[in-house]
Amino acid sequence: MPPTQYRTVHTIEVTEDRIGQSVTVAGWVQRRRDHGGIVFVDVRDATGIVQVVLDPTEIPDAHRLRMEFCVSITGKVRARPEGTVNPELATGRVEIGATELVVLSPADVLPFMIEDRVDVDERTRLEFRYLDLRRPSMASNLVARSRAVGAMRRVMDRLGFLEVETPTLIVSTPEGARDLLVPSRLRPGTFYALPQSPQLFKQLLMVAGVERYYQVAKCYRDEDFRADRQIEFSQLDLEGSFWGREEVLETLEEIVVEVVRELRGVELERPFPRLTWAEAMDRYGTDKPDTRFAMEIADLSDVFAQTEFRAFSGTLERGGVVRGFNAGAQETSRSRLDGLVERAKELGAKGLVWMVVEADGTIRSPVAKFLSESELTDLAQALEARPGDLLLLAADDRWRTAATVLGQLRVELGRPRGHDELAPLFVIDFPTFEPTDDGGWAPSHHPFTAPVDVEQMATDPERSISWAYDLVLNGAELGSGSVRIHDPEVQEKVFEVLGIAPEEAERRFGWFLRGLRYGTPPHAGFAIGIDRFVSILCDEPNIRQVIPFPKTQTGADPLTGAPSPVGDEHLSELGIMLRPGLREPTSEG
Ligand code: AMO
Ligand code: AMP
Repeated sequence: MPPTQYRTVHTIEVTEDRIGQSVTVAGWVQRRRDHGGIVFVDVRDATGIVQVVLDPTEIPDAHRLRMEFCVSITGKVRARPEGTVNPELATGRVEIGATELVVLSPADVLPFMIEDRVDVDERTRLEFRYLDLRRPSMASNLVARSRAVGAMRRVMDRLGFLEVETPTLIVSTPEGARDLLVPSRLRPGTFYALPQSPQLFKQLLMVAGVERYYQVAKCYRDEDFRADRQIEFSQLDLEGSFWGREEVLETLEEIVVEVVRELRGVELERPFPRLTWAEAMDRYGTDKPDTRFAMEIADLSDVFAQTEFRAFSGTLERGGVVRGFNAGAQETSRSRLDGLVERAKELGAKGLVWMVVEADGTIRSPVAKFLSESELTDLAQALEARPGDLLLLAADDRWRTAATVLGQLRVELGRPRGHDELAPLFVIDFPTFEPTDDGGWAPSHHPFTAPVDVEQMATDPERSISWAYDLVLNGAELGSGSVRIHDPEVQEKVFEVLGIAPEEAERRFGWFLRGLRYGTPPHAGFAIGIDRFVSILCDEPNIRQVIPFPKTQTGADPLTGAPSPVGDEHLSELGIMLRPGLREPTSEG
């Protein structure tokens, strides 16, 4: 017979002050030691674990218990016998002497143990995600995520933001990734797109007079998977009217400080440091610098202005650059150094010069013999080289290539691991455009971002700076935003530079551009990637660890089997016919 009350206390409440009391706990069998005459069971619930002792002569069902059975147990709290106290457990000084056991649900044999240290492949974990989420670290990630979002909402509330939901069946909006499409049944041959972000709707909300908007928004992007990307993910999306950059950055600081306080219990210093995009690229070789360690990149073109070393002199004659950084004390075996050269080439470098500063200050390097004494001295000075340091140099005709290759090596060699430090910063003054392969321009943020100087944007797109900014935490891009264009004429000019003809702009964004013509307030906003933010604060290298039900690297869900084939009938209703050969169910990798 089911008990009238499944539990009277949570396990975490079963402490010494309850000794002598009768309690009922409910949860799962975490561990079971059946000594025949006596059965020990660790009962786990959402709050923790408590030890229960069952005497099978009184409770015959005790022998039935297996891992992860769901149970309700009543008994008397008593002190653990001397020598069996577990100081690591909040409830480790007591145990429950069971008087009644109710098996609420048995469990099949488990595909893996419900423990953090169990090594099991991710596919199996995802197939049995509901069990994976019972593991303590995953359960605590879920809690962290909920608390992070709670803290975000708290700040938004405090600052008077209105939460508004925007639709998820929309028309294609350009954010740089491929849209996910949903066929329409009522209008066969047409498709909805799932939003890559609420961008245009939030801008129209500004037109509508919502002065401060936010939303915890699901976004969908059909792009290649990486550790920090999913096909669907969540943003804290926000926008404000009569706002410029400063109001946005101030709001972001409030949010980040509150979330970090909530999850880490530390107080971040404000204001966050700011770097211009050009500075970030110059000093760190990336637009998302990890400033927890130094190893800054330096320009060495002056040091080698007169050099006889062909790889450098040739590059400099062609107007290129020589750049490098001091990687500090590193393992410098020949194979490691060869590996670094290979890695640099893989990243697009023509080559990589390594130099090891020996104990006596001399430099060991395959190219040392081509360099003059004064070049070596100047180099050592420029990179503040000390005995034991490894120096890495790259020459390239393109500043950008030299910068990004060294920036990547810097991170791979220097990034601290298992580190508590948090280094948030803003990168501001992004270029408005990025060159495309076919000689045109693409927006470096999105096409609704305001250029600082409209005139220059139109005449000299290469040098145009925009009002776009990123929030960076420990070398990861947490989010992006910008001051938007609120003048339809400026918007048209940007489309022009992007090579989007007026008719095309009208066809694709006419509905939005029309909105801009009705008294649009100046506005600015931002979106924080929630999954990325929480994964960094939980010290998880992969965002899948903080997403309850994520997809695999190939976009599949091993739990449900999505994406899956659908029946011909359903397809024909949608007016869709599959190409021959696409009928067989695809296998998931
Ligand atoms: P953006 O495209 O830079 O800007 O996205 C903002 C943030 O969302 C997160 N993010 C992702 N997280 C997980 N998986 C993905 N595939 C993924 N793609 C993006 C990142 C990123 O920094 N509408 C603009 C914002 C604005 O201008 O207000 C936008 O979406 O953390
Ligand atoms: P090479 O003259 O190509 O044999 O190169 C001689 C050394 O210079 C090798 O260690 C190369 O890796 C290095 N090297 C060649 N080109 C570059 C470059 N552009 N930048 C840095 N090192 C280079």
